[in-house]
Amino acid sequence: MKILVWDLPTRLFHWLLALSFALAYLSAEKGNWLEVHVFSGYLMLGLLAFRLAWGFVGARYARFSSFRFSCKEGFDYLQQVIAGTPRRYLGHNPAGSWAVYLLLTLAFLVGSSGLFTLAGQEGLGPLAAWVPYASAKTFREIHEATVNAMLAMVILHLAGVALESWRHRENLAQAMLTGSKEGKPEAAISSRHLFSALSLLAAVIAGGAWYFSSAAVAAREGNAGDKIMRSIDPRETPLRITETPYWQGKHRHIAASVWRSHAVGARANCIACHHNAEQGSFAASAMPREVAAKAALH
Ligand code: HEC
Repeated sequence: MKILVWDLPTRLFHWLLALSFALAYLSAEKGNWLEVHVFSGYLMLGLLAFRLAWGFVGARYARFSSFRFSCKEGFDYLQQVIAGTPRRYLGHNPAGSWAVYLLLTLAFLVGSSGLFTLAGQEGLGPLAAWVPYASAKTFREIHEATVNAMLAMVILHLAGVALESWRHRENLAQAMLTGSKEGKPEAAISSRHLFSALSLLAAVIAGGAWYFSSAAVAAREGNAGDKIMRSIDPRETPLRITETPYWQGKHRHIAASVWRSHAVGARANCIACHHNAEQGSFAASAMPREVAAKAALH
């Protein structure tokens, strides 16, 4: 018979984590979408904090103690899968458990390196006061490397789910949606934990509302001057804005042909691309779409 295995908070966590990763991935490297990118990063870190706690106090199959397998058990299980005779587990199987732990660790590294990059590169976020511009590049590289590792793990995880579902003739993705799997009644968890699920959802919605309405987001438009200033090494004060590390970092993707084009002519012709430059606004959102797209393409 069908029994409840995955409690509601665990399922919510799972799909919200997938959503936050997808959202962050798709909004990366797009100036207009930095707010969404950063928000999905905060969401990811918030979800991780929840999952860590839920791993100790949550429902039976969500607890870390229910999926504590050794490396050897993980590999043995993989061998069984390859041989076509994997043992069936109601909760996480040994290989899946390792995927969970690796994914949680990677998500933490992705989120925290993102916070450091945001602080170093843009002077924003909770770490802004502690991370100098000069270290932004290193954090950015760590951020990108951990993202790629996480993407690889996500793909492995999807492959594992597909393989398992096929071997055991049961749809595991659907089980993560509905929470139920085929099993003996005494193996079921007793409650869906509706209250905890609603609290998690409320926290996510409140966090999102707070973030998108906060002054931090609005202030981003106007402080190009501060961002440029903090990128300057005081020992080598540049004469031109276009020689500052921040300016060069932001314009590194623009091809020489764009600078030489009739419409632009020179790097200092800020207003050719930033139509609101005279009002002090350089945000990509204050740039004609064609220009942003064209400049990014070259
Ligand atoms: C050829 C077009 C072009 C010219 C000319 C240009 N920029 Fe930009 N600028 C861009 C593009 C494209 C971006 C990146 C947008 C993004 O993806 O964030 C950008 C980003 C910026 C940013 C970062 C905005 C943010 O909030 O992320 C600042 C500040 C900026 N430019 C200042 C200047 C200044 C000052 C000048 C003149 C000295 C100038 N730009 C000249 C195209 C241009």
